Amino acid sequence: MTVNVVVGAQWGDEGKGKVVDMLTEHADVVARYGGGANAGHTLVVNGRKTVIRLVPSGILQDKPLCVLGSGMVIDPAVLRTELETLASYGVDTSAKRVLVSEHAHVVLPYHVLIDQLREAGANAIGTTKRGIGPAYEDKVGRRGVRMIDLLDGARLRARVQHAVEAWAPTILNLGGEVPAIEPILEAYSAHGQALRPLIGDATERLHQAVERGESVVAEGAQGSLLDIDHGTYPYVTSSTVLASGAASGLGIGPTAISKVIGITKAYATRVGSGPFPTELHDALGERIRQRGGEFGSVTGRPRRCGWIDLVALRHATRLNGMTELVMTKADVLEGLETIRVCVAYEAGGQRVQRLPAALDGLSAVYEDLPGFSGNLSGCRGLADLPEGLRRLVALTEAATGVPITWLSVGPEREQSIRLR
Ligand code: IMP
Repeated sequence: MTVNVVVGAQWGDEGKGKVVDMLTEHADVVARYGGGANAGHTLVVNGRKTVIRLVPSGILQDKPLCVLGSGMVIDPAVLRTELETLASYGVDTSAKRVLVSEHAHVVLPYHVLIDQLREAGANAIGTTKRGIGPAYEDKVGRRGVRMIDLLDGARLRARVQHAVEAWAPTILNLGGEVPAIEPILEAYSAHGQALRPLIGDATERLHQAVERGESVVAEGAQGSLLDIDHGTYPYVTSSTVLASGAASGLGIGPTAISKVIGITKAYATRVGSGPFPTELHDALGERIRQRGGEFGSVTGRPRRCGWIDLVALRHATRLNGMTELVMTKADVLEGLETIRVCVAYEAGGQRVQRLPAALDGLSAVYEDLPGFSGNLSGCRGLADLPEGLRRLVALTEAATGVPITWLSVGPEREQSIRLR
């Protein structure tokens, strides 16, 4: 068994990119299994910073094939720009390195329009406005456009016509203008031609990888609590974020998965609306935001910041069948007098130890740990860590029942401490 899944254990932005980068050095294949251009990793390529949204972060290694899996929704315009930027930085983006699943669904301009119109209204949930929700609605509604459809003019016309007719009343209701079909067909056929060499049978390639015992890293996007089935609904994304999505989104059996590596920050953040029991609304939250650079890499929105929530993390561990955790951004807590850890919730005078379907009206119960000061880069193992962090690691492992194998203490690769 060769497939290792990397999954966000909170609400996204846990620093998965750095962990995937560390894990993919010797990987043969790195595959994204869900989501679209709502994700974003800031990567430094040959000294230059870039944000990539669709191509798996393994593209920065020399070897692995980077697969955009069937469970994704792909905006071809964004993908082309991303590939062009990477190529201009000297990265090989040919078919040797990038494979786009012909099954993946396409995000079209009307998806983005509908997402934007909805977000301007009363039922906004704080999406990234990238058209993700409407694209998945079309997929489930069986009127979606798949990457392979971009290569066949007549098919593309029929699919787009069907979808635009279906959406027209919604667009008008939201005060928008129904887009003309011809310019869409022209632009998206051109995207299809440009991407043709990269579009192929990703499922077959992944089957081969599993059968040959190649090393595959399945890269999750977003975080477990944004999962469509198990997240804080309706404030969620529209795809399966959980590790189980790697099986369905890549077309491999769950038995092919050997490890599930969950990524959590040493604190918590969330972008967009929705419950967040440990949120800090004060200067401390602002301090974490500034120190941690907690601003959305796709939208630039300030992220909501708060303390780590072990009730939610335990839930995420079980939802994913995690085998280990990596804790990131521990350095951001440097200089705080106290580090707080949510160990339970309280509702109506009762202590609650599980994550209920509705989180309203819950307050967090904290255990306080001593803060620390000074640089952590000199720490080589658990024993070198300041007391507060050692206790944070111990409390997290006890709550989740899985080991924390790495602690990340800065953005650079070397700023990672092997704990187990
Ligand atoms: P959508 O995925 O754009 O539809 O947004 C739905 C919710 O998921 C919103 O709260 C977004 O802020 C959140 N979201 C989507 N992608 C990410 C991500 O990569 N990191 C953090 N939050 C995300």
